[in-house]
Amino acid sequence: MADSNADRALEALATEERRFPPAATFTAQANTRDRSLYEHAERDFEGFWAEQARTLDWRKPFGKVLEWEAPYAKWFADGELNVAENCLDRHVRAGRGARVAYHWEGEPGDARTVTYADLLALTNRCANALGELGVRTGDRVAIYMPMIPELPAAMLACARIGAPFTVVFAGFSAEALSGRIEDAEAKVLITADGGYRKGGVVPLKKNADDAVARTTTIEHVLVVRRTTQEVPWTAGRDVWWHELVERQSPECAAVSLPAEHMLYLLYTSGTTAKPKGIVHTTGGYLTGVSATHRYVFDIKDDDVFWCAADIGWVTGHSYIVFGPLANGTTSVMYEGTPDFPDKDRWWQVIEKYRVTVLYCAPTAIRTFMKWGDGYVRKHDLRSLRLLGSVGEPINPEAWLWYQETIGGGRCPIVDTWWMTETGMILITPLPGVVTTKPGSATFPFPGVKADVVDDAGRSVPPGGAGYLVLERPWPAMLRGIYKDDRRYRETYWSRFPGRYFAGDGAKRDAEGYLWLMGRVDDVMKISGHRISTTEVESALVSHPKVAEAAVIGREDPVTGQAIFAFVTLRSGNESSDALSVELREHVVKGIGAIARPKTIMFSPDLPKTRSGKIMRRLLRDIANGVPLGDTTTLADASVVETIRTATGAED
Ligand code: PRX
Repeated sequence: MADSNADRALEALATEERRFPPAATFTAQANTRDRSLYEHAERDFEGFWAEQARTLDWRKPFGKVLEWEAPYAKWFADGELNVAENCLDRHVRAGRGARVAYHWEGEPGDARTVTYADLLALTNRCANALGELGVRTGDRVAIYMPMIPELPAAMLACARIGAPFTVVFAGFSAEALSGRIEDAEAKVLITADGGYRKGGVVPLKKNADDAVARTTTIEHVLVVRRTTQEVPWTAGRDVWWHELVERQSPECAAVSLPAEHMLYLLYTSGTTAKPKGIVHTTGGYLTGVSATHRYVFDIKDDDVFWCAADIGWVTGHSYIVFGPLANGTTSVMYEGTPDFPDKDRWWQVIEKYRVTVLYCAPTAIRTFMKWGDGYVRKHDLRSLRLLGSVGEPINPEAWLWYQETIGGGRCPIVDTWWMTETGMILITPLPGVVTTKPGSATFPFPGVKADVVDDAGRSVPPGGAGYLVLERPWPAMLRGIYKDDRRYRETYWSRFPGRYFAGDGAKRDAEGYLWLMGRVDDVMKISGHRISTTEVESALVSHPKVAEAAVIGREDPVTGQAIFAFVTLRSGNESSDALSVELREHVVKGIGAIARPKTIMFSPDLPKTRSGKIMRRLLRDIANGVPLGDTTTLADASVVETIRTATGAED
């Protein structure tokens, strides 16, 4: 791999010798204490997953486990079930209706306790309301909401009636939302008047209106009142949640659905400007997320689980909503940012609800490190017993700080590797079994088979680095890219035929531990958020003053990568700080604040190969090698030429 980030990461990791075996006291109480789960899965891979699937309630039991005609998988295909029934009804029926599903904490300090019985009633009312709005099994529903209990209820309501939903992260712009609505051909949009973030109000309804104006399929907009600010209103199309949903019956029959019925679409960035609609289905997905949630987080009845992601990302889908609810777990759900009203908000939440398991991203951990231990020490975190990490590589220093300062040295850490496409955690330690090494996601989950291969697809020997591939199907895997089968086959299955190409670089050490080293394609990871370089480039080029743009991810000590844009202006335009600000905001408008470039470098030209391809590797080296302010002008294009000649870079 000719990737300089990866090479550097490899060097750093090569020196990591520390190891952390599970404490005997942890193992003694763990859901899995020895290698039997791994052995069972190796001996009888389909039998293992069938056993996991049978922990769910099936309306019609499945006979077949897996049908695999690469690259198309069907899991439990002749079985039928309903996801909402598995997440709610069966717990209530078993007399567990009074258990807390969510301790919900609003950013301004308001709180709600939502029991399983409450969530079932809310879900049913919402499902009936959707029926009244004309939504039928198979129709798509778009959801653009803040982190409030109505969000999981809306997702479960769709699942209950078999209407595939697509949740769009509330930080995305109107433009990004409209593209997703259009691709999904959604009939109804569920949103809110606004949401609280960093003490301010996000104008969700206004964004929703702007988005709907550009689309043709939305018949109704269902609006939750959260912030009570004035909102624009379209009579006949817009409906208040508190008027429509609250007057519905709290009972609604769950539809029995084939295991391969589409549960949801989730849009994610690939290497082109157009996001991909990742298709997830019903039976295999719920099997995968509930099994991984149970074993990776060692979940018990008395746990208070907090996955501090946003439901708008796959992490929230799988480990705030479907995994925990399928397991009848009590979760914490928090609406806002970690620094409101002060930088100790997370630790205050953990102390308040006696959180036992925390799951978050390395960017958050590095941010807390930067803020200093003082904020942590103000609170009693002794309820914590297990910590998880997800979304980007975790550097050993952050891992050790997490372990010591947050975990008090007593909590195992599970570094979990997976993707929107994989649906569930695939590479992770089992906390009672696997000795961890800071920075390594360790081994595949039982039943999952991964390899590290070179350009020719040959397995690299221990100690070597290459591309991560998955060697066999898993139940929560994507079933395709919505309406784009060719892209599905090309993106994941053509590089190494028959094997799933993740797009990540990886190293396997002498003991077989896997170390993930970041993306090898044009996808960036900014604070764990996935953004494609081309998406940002096309947003920049849509500005009238921009002729050309090249975007790369620059290494960043806190956010992992930061967006660095090289911009060539159309003739007659001058570079300036004001224009730099204008261009950044233009990207925010096109995609959302998560895609705001940190640095814009104006350059009279972009270095290209003879065939006209922008030489990204060179730009990456420039961006990573030069200390730069927010805006810099690369005045002399010959600088690039010099580097180009020196490195001999070509196609
Ligand atoms: O590069 C890998 C990184 O996140 C990518 C997937 O991003 P997304 O679909 O947004 O899903 C993130 C949450 C599941 C992967 O290709 N990634 C995820 N987890 C890890 C990771 N990189 C290193 N270590 C991880 N634990």
